[in-house]
Amino acid sequence: MTVYQATASAPVNIACIKYWGKRDTKLILPTNSSLSVTLDQDHLRSTTTSRADPSFTRDRLWLNGKEDEIKDGGRLATCIREMKRLRKEEVEDKNTDEPKLSTYSVHICSYNNFPTAAGLASSASGFAALVSSLAHLYQLPVSASTLSLISRQGSGSACRSLFGGFVAWQMGSDPSGSDSLAVEVAPQSHWPDIHALICVVSDDKKGTSSTSGMQRTVETSALLQHRINNVVPQRMKDIEKAILEKDFDTFARITMADSNQFHAVALDTEPPIFYMNDVSRAIIAVIVEYNRLSIEAGTGYKAAYTYDAGPNAVIYAPKANIKEIVEFIVTYFPQEENSFKDVFSLFGGGRLVGKVP
Ligand code: ADP
Ligand code: DP6
Ligand code: CO
Repeated sequence: MTVYQATASAPVNIACIKYWGKRDTKLILPTNSSLSVTLDQDHLRSTTTSRADPSFTRDRLWLNGKEDEIKDGGRLATCIREMKRLRKEEVEDKNTDEPKLSTYSVHICSYNNFPTAAGLASSASGFAALVSSLAHLYQLPVSASTLSLISRQGSGSACRSLFGGFVAWQMGSDPSGSDSLAVEVAPQSHWPDIHALICVVSDDKKGTSSTSGMQRTVETSALLQHRINNVVPQRMKDIEKAILEKDFDTFARITMADSNQFHAVALDTEPPIFYMNDVSRAIIAVIVEYNRLSIEAGTGYKAAYTYDAGPNAVIYAPKANIKEIVEFIVTYFPQEENSFKDVFSLFGGGRLVGKVP
């Protein structure tokens, strides 16, 4: 008996220009473009195994060992349906000898090696790994761009995890979503000196999911409209240029400003959303002071903080500064006080385990 099964991993990506707001909630089309760094998948990743079998009676998914419901018409169902459609069109219709895997139900099992739903982008690595594992299972001859379009319909930020290095999600303008996908701005090898330090302040599940939080922001925040129309378009251009020129001062300034504005927009939501906590804010104060001393000494910015929809800090910095940053973070936030659950040092950039066919 042939076993049809495949496994793939995908890394998380942490945005420097944040995606926050949908213009189409079904297709997951964003209200602004965004830009992120895909982390090295030796650290924070989702690993997903998919299996197709004629004896399975329905599609099922287990996340971290616990079964998750696949709701009809929901995001998981959409991604699985789109992948089965590609299997039929790209493989079975072209070569009728191929087994009709598109007609079998799938069982999917996924693990995250880091906190789930805690603001460390588990939905990004999760949906990227899901579509990648199905692409292997179905032996699809499709590009990372095609998988980006499909994973976007699982979780917006996932479309960026199909690429390594510095990645932009172009918001697109087509109502069908065909031009709303991620593109590589530069590979990790372009600027390998940039490292990311993840400071896990709390691994608790966030109170407001990204999906419901951003929808509330779209409905109630006037500041979001200003951000979408007057702020993000210029920042996208400026940060892409900074990356291409390896201009860390500009990269750091924009990254921190955009994190601040994203959290301001969350606060401008009715009722307000607080993703950062006192420890998050204390880390900001420490980084601001670290940069101030360096700028005064004429050596420019040394580090950039950014926070997703959660209290956990991600600090981007040139490799030479990482040791010093870890030292002062551990000094100011001693582990025994349990301010920090963990500190990881990571390379920026990454790739998928098991290549995308
Ligand atoms: P995060 O900040 O971690 O991305 P979100 O609120 O955006 O938090 O999304 C969390 C949700 O993403 C989870 O509740 C789950 O539904 C989904 N998710 C997380 N990891 C995976 C995974 N490995 N496979 C499939 N879905 C996942
Ligand atoms: C703050 O991609 O998790 O991390 O599309 O509803 O699944 P859904 O939301 P999600 O939102 C990510 C928000 C963010 C910023 C970012 O990653 O760009
Ligand atoms: Co998410």
